[in-house]
Amino acid sequence: MADRTPLIAGNWKMNLEEWQAVELAGSIADGFKGTGVDVVLCPPFPWLVPVAAVLQGTPVALGAQDCSTETAGAYTGQVSPAMLNALCSYVIVGHSERRRDCCESNELVGQKANAALAAGLTPIACVGEALDIRDAGQAISWVEEQVDAIASAVGAEGVARIVIAYEPIWAIGTGRSATPDDAEDVVAAIRARVSATNATAGAQLRILYGGSANAENAAAYLATANIDGLLVGGASLKADSFLEIVSAAI
Ligand code: 13P
Repeated sequence: MADRTPLIAGNWKMNLEEWQAVELAGSIADGFKGTGVDVVLCPPFPWLVPVAAVLQGTPVALGAQDCSTETAGAYTGQVSPAMLNALCSYVIVGHSERRRDCCESNELVGQKANAALAAGLTPIACVGEALDIRDAGQAISWVEEQVDAIASAVGAEGVARIVIAYEPIWAIGTGRSATPDDAEDVVAAIRARVSATNATAGAQLRILYGGSANAENAAAYLATANIDGLLVGGASLKADSFLEIVSAAI
């Protein structure tokens, strides 16, 4: 890995009661020494405030799971990046579950990444192919198109400040993780794609893998040349498994 600090992010999705979220954040903050790796927890929106209180003064960062493209106004149900910036330092955009359930396009995901950056947040922009695309041998070109949309929306200066998460849809929540070699192939292609227009940004860009990552397989991903961290779903809901993944990144 070049000079890139590893990043382990927990995406709690639409899980946990408030007390469980508070307890989990507290256990993770207690177990993390705070050096060698960046750690971010992404709870559901209503738990951002209580979890922020738990994480205050600890090295564990807070992230949201989505944001609006807009700053303020008549956008019922949306939350602006500026509002999130009062609590969070990261925000996930373009998760495949939002692309699927909320019809989010490549263009919209790029706009969200750009809005997040403009508000001072670090977007974790997700890309990844479905199984039929992989089986057709088109995983890399599919993901390159998603990356191009994000890169063009955030611009040459912005692309060095975002995080990209490669999450093959067929590996999410299925227990069928991508092999480290397959994940590394796509992640290397993402870095090459960004480097082709901006070599510095390509070298600085942190790229995560996500999809059934867990305490057992984390080290193998993190040992590759281009995977800089993990975006963890299910295994981030238990402090011990998440902290084991964090330890694998140090
Ligand atoms: P799982 O780790 O549960 O497969 O989820 C991955 C994911 O979608 C993280 O954003």
